[in-house]
Amino acid sequence: MHEDHRVSATDTIDTLPRGGPAASWLDRQLETERLEFLDRDDVDDRVKRSVVRALEHICTKFRYNEKFAQLAMQEVADIPRPRILELGAGHGGFSRELLERHPDVEVTVTDIDPASVDDMAAGDLGSHPRAVVRVEDATSINAPDQAYDLVVFAQSFHHLPPRAAAAAIAEATRVAKKFLIVDVLRQSPIVQPLRLPLISAVILLGQGYPTAHDWLISELRAYSPSALQALAAHTETDIATRFSNDRIHQVAVMSRGDLDKV
Ligand SMILES: C[S@@+](CC[C@H](N)C(=O)[O-])C[C@H]1O[C@@H](n2cnc3c(N)ncnc32)[C@H](O)[C@@H]1O
Repeated sequence: MHEDHRVSATDTIDTLPRGGPAASWLDRQLETERLEFLDRDDVDDRVKRSVVRALEHICTKFRYNEKFAQLAMQEVADIPRPRILELGAGHGGFSRELLERHPDVEVTVTDIDPASVDDMAAGDLGSHPRAVVRVEDATSINAPDQAYDLVVFAQSFHHLPPRAAAAAIAEATRVAKKFLIVDVLRQSPIVQPLRLPLISAVILLGQGYPTAHDWLISELRAYSPSALQALAAHTETDIATRFSNDRIHQVAVMSRGDLDKV
């Protein structure tokens, strides 16, 4: 019997709970409409840059770039010269790691934020012979169908409200054979109230208020697997999804084809 992943009669796509259509009352309390500093137009660019730099530091320190690159390479293991599009790259650490690991990979490194793109283009990625750096909005990707083997969106999918998130799934699975989402894991609503103050305090002490603020919001805006299924169902294309997690990150691989064959 197939589980029904569509949004429920009482929720529209815009009010889809981050915990999915069947989210409990407690889970629905543990989400927020509040935006991260990174997503606000009224926030000084220096604050946003400080958050991106802190993320770069965290990704290096905890070896997230390596972890995400390994996940990506698994998805294109049988392709000699994989073409990979990174959305929401921020600092570009993941794409840099991919280019170091794979001698033939071609990477398009993008973000919706022009200041992040300018910073990445001014650094080593901007002059790398196998990298293109440019602005791209995950919800409306400027590329033909199947232009890439893989699209990767790391630690960013939760930034999108549900309607935009469904559009990103439709777009990423249109322009690539596979869409790899690696995001903050939505924790159980029982664990979260105990965990959040601790995590926030640790990040506040290490990285400062703006990063702690954005991290807290990320945890409350993270999508569960059932929410991701509902978003994929909303695209009205037949999307196959495979999930895994390592208790820190939620991983989803999506495809319009058979995931065992693409
Ligand atoms: C938390 S940062 C993640 C940066 C990096 N990928 C990492 O793992 O550290 C989220 C990024 O998503 C970007 N972003 C937000 N909305 C976006 C959209 N609609 N399309 C593309 N990028 C987006 C932000 O500008 C930001 O750089």
